[in-house]
Amino acid sequence: MMSSPASPPLVTTVAELRDALGPVRREGKRIGLVPTMGALHDGHLSLVLASQSECDFTVVTIFVNPSQFGPGEDLARYPRPLARDLELLAGSADLAFAPGESEVYPPGFATWVEVGSVAQPLEGAFRLGHFRGVATVVLKLFNMVGPDVAYFGQKDYQQSLVIRRMVADLNLPIRVRVCPIVREPDGLAMSSRNAYLSPDERRRAAVLSQGLGVAAGAVAQGERDAARVAAKVRETILAAGPISIDYIAVADPETLEPVASIRGPALVALAVRIGSTRLIDNAILEPP
Ligand code: PAF
Repeated sequence: MMSSPASPPLVTTVAELRDALGPVRREGKRIGLVPTMGALHDGHLSLVLASQSECDFTVVTIFVNPSQFGPGEDLARYPRPLARDLELLAGSADLAFAPGESEVYPPGFATWVEVGSVAQPLEGAFRLGHFRGVATVVLKLFNMVGPDVAYFGQKDYQQSLVIRRMVADLNLPIRVRVCPIVREPDGLAMSSRNAYLSPDERRRAAVLSQGLGVAAGAVAQGERDAARVAAKVRETILAAGPISIDYIAVADPETLEPVASIRGPALVALAVRIGSTRLIDNAILEPP
């Protein structure tokens, strides 16, 4: 009888993590890091599989980082199904690191990473201090693990730009890989926050990717005016019923500066609230 693969070993302190990784590094193995906040889904697992196929040893970190949540956001209700997460990592990750809050932010902690212009618009404008928390914890995780390659999802497009900027500006010897968005069969981008949606909200949430599809369709048919593209996305989303839109932006995919006319690849990014759940999604528009 074939036995099913075991969950990866779990460590919870930086000292244990370094003990576990010492021999791996001495053997010259290439270490891949997948930073997560847990509540794993197929989007996370696609990153773990990318690391497994490109690296010799894959570390998955699971830490719900309080410093990237603003007041009134969902820190308290963010799901934390650690045992299930470890089961999902069986056969793909080599080590799981799930530190407690005081391991990452010990008393007296007072050093923060502020990334410049790419962290300002879009999510940065709606979630003040969010990217300061993300950049700080990701730099700490990089320093704790010492990966050769780190994997992030394109769903958090702006986050991946912020991290790439930080890696370049701080000369970190780490390759950042951004992997495609994984979607549910109806197009909804996978997210741990989808679990908050009621059945009716979940049905309505499919309109986000439909809106992005409308944008791509308009550009494919020759529309070049970014404001008209954004208006079509807005119209599509609002037709699905009560959804409140934080932003729908058409922006330069590298700088995130607003684009008026779509002449080359452009990012269309959006954030909405459906009931009490905030969702984001994006796509790159490529004029033919
Ligand atoms: O994308 C996430 O899940 C988080 O922002 C990250 C990168 C794990 C940092 O807490």
